[in-house]
Amino acid sequence: NKMSTQNRPRVFISRRIPEKGYALIASECEIISWNFDDPPPRNEYLSTVKGINGLFCLLTDKIDVELLNEAGPSLQVVSTMSVGYDHIDVMECNKRNILLGYTPGILTNATAELTMALLLATSRRLKEGIRAVQTGEWGTWKPMWLCGPGLDGATVGIVGLGRIGFAIAKCLKPFGVAKIVYSGRSEKEEAKEINAEYKSFDELLKISDFVIACCALTSETKELFNRDAFKKMKPSAVFINSSRGGIVNQDDLYKALESGEIGAAGLDVTSPEPLPVDSPLLKLDNCIVIPHIGSATHSTREAMAVLAARNLLAGLKGLPMPCQLK
Ligand code: DGY
Repeated sequence: NKMSTQNRPRVFISRRIPEKGYALIASECEIISWNFDDPPPRNEYLSTVKGINGLFCLLTDKIDVELLNEAGPSLQVVSTMSVGYDHIDVMECNKRNILLGYTPGILTNATAELTMALLLATSRRLKEGIRAVQTGEWGTWKPMWLCGPGLDGATVGIVGLGRIGFAIAKCLKPFGVAKIVYSGRSEKEEAKEINAEYKSFDELLKISDFVIACCALTSETKELFNRDAFKKMKPSAVFINSSRGGIVNQDDLYKALESGEIGAAGLDVTSPEPLPVDSPLLKLDNCIVIPHIGSATHSTREAMAVLAARNLLAGLKGLPMPCQLK
């Protein structure tokens, strides 16, 4: 009835999301929804957020001063269905006392799993192998054909031993890796559990057979993987990125791959996304690119939507959020 809809907070959901998350929000809010798989055009987004109390957003939505101004002072909560929050101007939200919610933890295992899939596909040259089968290039079994580096006995470097980096390290163990090293802002107590050694970034690059980027995109990590970094790696090194495309200078990566300065790269994230189909990276045999699907298991995406919904509802009621970004 009219009375109850008037008291319900107005929430904008910027995309089609798993039903369970939507239903939770619908039970308590008046929803304005862009119910499509592709994002609303920016101008549509800006005009829709006017006067809303809560925003349910995705990592593709730029939550900046312009958008917050358009939303106006009614906006109390921004809840992103992601663990990454480089798309949100966090300082600006803090300044305006807008609460922020995000979804750490629940997507850790799915992302670690996908990172392992990408790593194995890259090192064991699955892209070339599948293509060879499809094109008839697959002749007879050949001793020297489509060989790549294995994990057994390898040194693996993890850049950013957070939740996801730690989970990847645990996945690596049964493959017989000889050594796990990590770099980051500080040494981590949990690293002892998995026998991982803290190294400087440069040292890690120098000694690792596999370099896995698991760090958040910040001003410190922006294009951390550039010409200098690739130069320090082994010529056989396999570089894997499942965090954010912005931590890599892609032109430098292309040159490093093309010239054999490093062995191969597997990317689940690029800059921009989608990666233009004429990107030179896609012409390389030693580069595998997949479309930002780290957390894409049915149950994980549902759990992310539900957690983001619970964050939103708690924030709107002034209750502690299950996962608040401070
Ligand atoms: C995130 O959550 O930040 C990932 O990039 C998508 O799951």
